[in-house]
Amino acid sequence: MMYSKIAEQIPPSPIRDMMCRAELYEDVISFAVGEPDFYPTENIIEATKTSLDNHEVRYAPGAGLLELREKYADYLTKSTGIEYDMSEVIVTTGGMGALFLGMLSVIDPGDEVLISAPYFSNYAQTVSLCHGKTVTVEVREKDNFVLTPEAVQKAITPKSKVLIINSPCNPTGSLISYDILKKIAEIAIKNDLLVISDEVYSHIVFDGQLYHSIVEFPGMKERTLIVDSCSKTFAMTGFRVGFAAGPEHLISLMTKLTEGVYSAGVTFSQRAAVEAFNSGMDHCEEMCREYEQRRNYICRELDKIDGISCIKPEGAFYVFVNISQSGMDAKHFSDHLLDEEHVAVVPGDNFGSAEGYKYIRISYATSMDNIIEGIKRISNFCSEYIAI
Ligand SMILES: Cc1ncc(COP(=O)(O)O)c(C=O)c1O
Repeated sequence: MMYSKIAEQIPPSPIRDMMCRAELYEDVISFAVGEPDFYPTENIIEATKTSLDNHEVRYAPGAGLLELREKYADYLTKSTGIEYDMSEVIVTTGGMGALFLGMLSVIDPGDEVLISAPYFSNYAQTVSLCHGKTVTVEVREKDNFVLTPEAVQKAITPKSKVLIINSPCNPTGSLISYDILKKIAEIAIKNDLLVISDEVYSHIVFDGQLYHSIVEFPGMKERTLIVDSCSKTFAMTGFRVGFAAGPEHLISLMTKLTEGVYSAGVTFSQRAAVEAFNSGMDHCEEMCREYEQRRNYICRELDKIDGISCIKPEGAFYVFVNISQSGMDAKHFSDHLLDEEHVAVVPGDNFGSAEGYKYIRISYATSMDNIIEGIKRISNFCSEYIAI
């Protein structure tokens, strides 16, 4: 039996691997998973139950429930100040569904997709599945892990078609400033790139900063596909409701392709998502405040540990910790930390960056008690194994 070369060659998810290994220890503290530890509010759960009680168990339309598309278009219009109509919105199975259908609709074999690295590792898999070529644009710690317009410009070739940006970023927690976004927008326009703007963490932004989307710049709405999701915003990962918003023709291609991919999203999950938007952003803001407190604690405590360092992330729920002074590479550090102290983190070289082996990713989407204990164990580990 011959299996597809692409399927065989794609590496398994390192994050899942770490999660499975972590499960072997009963007392493990896991900083590996990028999933909110909060639950959706009760009204969202009730709306799901009501939808099931009403037997909303049939196929939804390929582009999603009209009511939800309308809600999301309204929400996006308000949050970006740019007018969106529901014909420019598709509901997908999570942000992943939006990324996959979006890339499938724009990438021809050999097209180059520029991605700032380190990046969310699923991007590269999706690019490969679409027969595209990932071109990494390295970001540096000295630039707060933010993409520089010069690096983007330098990476562009005649085959460049798409640029993926992710702000706030998984795995670094970096936030692209308004001024840099503006310059990236100018480059996208000059070089005729489609920008996939992954905004799944747009509601997790700290220090009172305002979130800006690249669509806010003139000429960008027509060349941007926004990818969004209820997963992080409303702590609804298992509901699998995501969104893409972009040019009407692109959305119609994506809708056509749903047929051969998953036909339609889950009807009662979409009802729950309507309720989530109806109930507003209070819960989301509460979660954000809690993440911010956790970030403050982690950065303050990590700063006290010799041999590792981190810059303060501005959003999402990750810290990208520099372990280069430990004398270990990321894999060695992470393996040892799990074996010795039962703390799971993700080695930084799993995020597509050449410099990744110098970093580990800590996800603080876990309780404050776990964070306090986990950081204590990391501190023990460092004092035991790092010779300064
Ligand atoms: C940057 C980024 N984009 C997209 C996703 C996909 O999220 P979902 O498919 O749950 O909406 C994730 C999930 O962790 C992510 O970190």
